[in-house]
Amino acid sequence: MTGAVPHLEVVDLVAGYVPDVPILRGMTLTVQTGEIVTVLGPNGAGKSTLIKAVAGLVPAQSGTIQVRGQNILGLATHKLVGAGVAYVPQVDNIFTRLSVQENLELGGMATPRELRQRIEEMYALFPDLARLRRLAAGKLSGGQRQMVAVARALMARPHFIMLDEPSAGLSPKLTEMVFQKLLDVRGTGVTVLVVEQNAKAALAISDRGYVLAEGQQKFAGTARELLSSPEVGELYLGSKSRLAS
Ligand SMILES: Nc1ncnc2c1ncn2[C@@H]1O[C@H](COP(=O)(O)OP(=O)(O)OP(=O)(O)O)[C@@H](O)[C@H]1O
Ligand SMILES: [Mg+2]
Repeated sequence: MTGAVPHLEVVDLVAGYVPDVPILRGMTLTVQTGEIVTVLGPNGAGKSTLIKAVAGLVPAQSGTIQVRGQNILGLATHKLVGAGVAYVPQVDNIFTRLSVQENLELGGMATPRELRQRIEEMYALFPDLARLRRLAAGKLSGGQRQMVAVARALMARPHFIMLDEPSAGLSPKLTEMVFQKLLDVRGTGVTVLVVEQNAKAALAISDRGYVLAEGQQKFAGTARELLSSPEVGELYLGSKSRLAS
């Protein structure tokens, strides 16, 4: 992988919702093509802000964001979607009154000619959704809703997907199911960046991880390194015990 252009490269990013109140205060992070990378950190650390900044939803004051070597800072969100960057928000990530299939159709609006084929590909990737296609998305379980949100984002055929706390509110079993699905998504050639509170479950499927606290990178390492670090566990993950016990 040495010498390869990173899939996502964020360097010294300063960003926030209002000028003069930076939430990210010099955040640096790299994702290589084909990786699953997790960003961990306490509540309010700036994890969602980081993803939103990459998605063009939070303005940056300084620093750089590059996707496959292209500067994307300041690019409008719809242009990023066109450039193959997908984003699954932490909340309100599906249309609850619309059916599963209608949610997917909206996700594929930009590529109408490929709609049928892409929907079938999504049903192949998420067989449960094929069964539930006519049901209102709001009637589904939490895990199934996350699948709809991920499938909807994938409808645009992104090469890169960012997910904000996909396991929020899910039982341990459903959490594992969602993360296993992310492995399948990566298997289709999509690079994955995930923000999570559930460190253990997320790192179990990740190649590498970062700890973000107070708007800065506090720790970077392989998933194994993060899982076995007492320092990371104690200081940033709310656990005094080693995560990998
Ligand atoms: N729309 C907004 N306007 C102003 N400040 C915001 C906004 N959204 C978040 N913030 C602030 O930015 C900081 C970081 O929030 P962010 O949502 O990025 O944290 P997080 O790491 O995702 O936390 P959580 O784990 O709770 O989701 C917090 O202090 C928060 O109050
Ligand atoms: Mg958040």
